[in-house]
Amino acid sequence: MIYGSSGGVGLYAVQLAKSMGANVTGVCSTRNLELAKQMGCDYVIDYKKEDFTKTQTKFDAIIGVNGCNSMKDYKRLLKPNGIFVGVGGDVKQVSKAFLLSFISRNFSYFAGPIMPQNDYLSYAKELAETGKLLPYIDKIYSVQDTKEAIRYIVSSHTQGKVVVSMDFK
Ligand SMILES: NC(=O)c1ccc[n+]([C@@H]2O[C@H](COP(=O)([O-])OP(=O)(O)OC[C@H]3O[C@@H](n4cnc5c(N)ncnc54)[C@H](OP(=O)(O)O)[C@@H]3O)[C@@H](O)[C@H]2O)c1
Repeated sequence: MIYGSSGGVGLYAVQLAKSMGANVTGVCSTRNLELAKQMGCDYVIDYKKEDFTKTQTKFDAIIGVNGCNSMKDYKRLLKPNGIFVGVGGDVKQVSKAFLLSFISRNFSYFAGPIMPQNDYLSYAKELAETGKLLPYIDKIYSVQDTKEAIRYIVSSHTQGKVVVSMDFK
């Protein structure tokens, strides 16, 4: 399950999971359901209309973007050896998940930039070159409009990536 499957992190996570042969359930709002399917989700849940915690499926892995839900909700949806990885979220959510990662092997958290490892980058490069990992670009801003671009990003409803374009002429 990828909760927040239509954003900058989510759409890449969907494609990576598919490339590894996973059966992917995405969660996003109504307007993004088609996009999430188009990028590889096998099944989508509209969080505006459905309570995702009511799904009968148990997951091997859940990626939770933005700390939108309680850890209890995610835990209930995991298989016994399933793993939850959180990405972003408010301070309270991040601290909770971070603490949980010390006491439970089911939880880990990714809150900011990490150093990419060469073998992962080679793997991503290979997927990109074979068209299995594509960026989905929502909007392109000029560098003068960076402030507006950041305002849009922090709205938490981007579709894929937002680009700030620089002219190096
Ligand atoms: N992008 C990066 O490279 C990067 C790197 C490190 C950390 N992070 C962190 O990771 C987090 C996610 O970033 P992101 O780039 O993927 O973009 P984002 O814009 O923060 O997340 C967008 C996703 O979250 C969903 N969403 C927003 N509000 C929701 C809600 N109330 N309930 C359920 N889903 C909701 C959106 O769906 P709808 O639009 O359909 O509502 C969309 O799928 C951020 O906290 C960011 O700081 C990002």
